[in-house]
Amino acid sequence: AEEHLPSTDLITLTRHILAEQNRLGSRATGDLTMLLNAIQLTSKFIATNVRKARLINLVGMAGETNVQGEEQKKLDVLSNDIMVNALRASGKTAVLVSEELEEAVIIEPRHKGKYCVVFDPLDGSSNIDAGVNIGTIFGIYQIEEGSEGTIKDVLRPGSHMVAAGYTMYGSSANLVLSTGNGVNGFTLDNGLGEFILTHPDIKIPERGKIYSFNEGNSMYFHQPVIDYLNSIKYPSQEHGKKSPYSARYIGSMVADVHRTLLYGGIFGYPDDKKSKNGKLRMLYEAFPMAYLTEQAGGMATTGTKRILDIHPTEIHARCPVFLGSKEDVKDLIKCYEAHA
Ligand code: AHG
Ligand code: MN
Ligand code: MN
Ligand code: MN
Repeated sequence: AEEHLPSTDLITLTRHILAEQNRLGSRATGDLTMLLNAIQLTSKFIATNVRKARLINLVGMAGETNVQGEEQKKLDVLSNDIMVNALRASGKTAVLVSEELEEAVIIEPRHKGKYCVVFDPLDGSSNIDAGVNIGTIFGIYQIEEGSEGTIKDVLRPGSHMVAAGYTMYGSSANLVLSTGNGVNGFTLDNGLGEFILTHPDIKIPERGKIYSFNEGNSMYFHQPVIDYLNSIKYPSQEHGKKSPYSARYIGSMVADVHRTLLYGGIFGYPDDKKSKNGKLRMLYEAFPMAYLTEQAGGMATTGTKRILDIHPTEIHARCPVFLGSKEDVKDLIKCYEAHA
């Protein structure tokens, strides 16, 4: 009968991070734990604002345009400010890169630590006003040996990240994190104000049945993508796929990737005839999500190369993204190889 009772031994995010720290033994200083604690606070702070946005006049435009040429929503600006303030105050960061800030923030000596955080404070802005799932994405680098913390510390391949994650603000707030030792998912218990481990060791299915692309851009797609989409919509026996895939596209990367991690399948935002490098930003969208996908046993590619191997030359650089179940991503890569 015991298993019908609620658990009295909760694994909070803090407990989990401390356990990870202890696993590293004397090599761990506790700084990453403190930093992840600050990030955890920003997610709770943003989540509470998302929940009451409609009630406190937090929906709609802020009135400014960001470096991406996008009109900022009030929640984009607020979430950015929440993150910059908390990350600076943690004393554990040296460089911050945000989707909403043209320049990297170099933390002043008084607050400087050894980590760099790249983040998308509010992902899925176009979904805010409709109350559809949105999120926050982050990636963490450690500054290089001897560095004071410069932009060079973040212009590095995603494979150098020491941790990455996202929080999805949906029917519940879910924080999904990897520190390079698998992927774990936590759900915010609003009563306790704590993220509780609800999805231990997330593993993405080897193959899925869902594809997630903005097919409204089909007229701009390149041939490999068109071929791939046709292969899953009009499957032939020889591909070993008997029934067509289901389409699911939310338009918030966090939500589309979250579903892909849990259910499997493929998420894609290709480059096309209109956007040479696609839409998604390498540092704070593509890299963290590619990192989590690989840590969950999946694959992440531009179609021709592994995303985590790309060396960014610019903090707001973009790249094509295809990620998800291993078998599905391999099928897509075959379509690229056929056109090489
Ligand atoms: P953001 O809201 O942070 O600018 O990101 C939007 C991104 C991403 O969340 C999503 O995958 C993609 O834009 C959707 O783009 P389309 O509307 O072109 O499909
Ligand atoms: Mn944006
Ligand atoms: Mn985004
Ligand atoms: Mn954003």
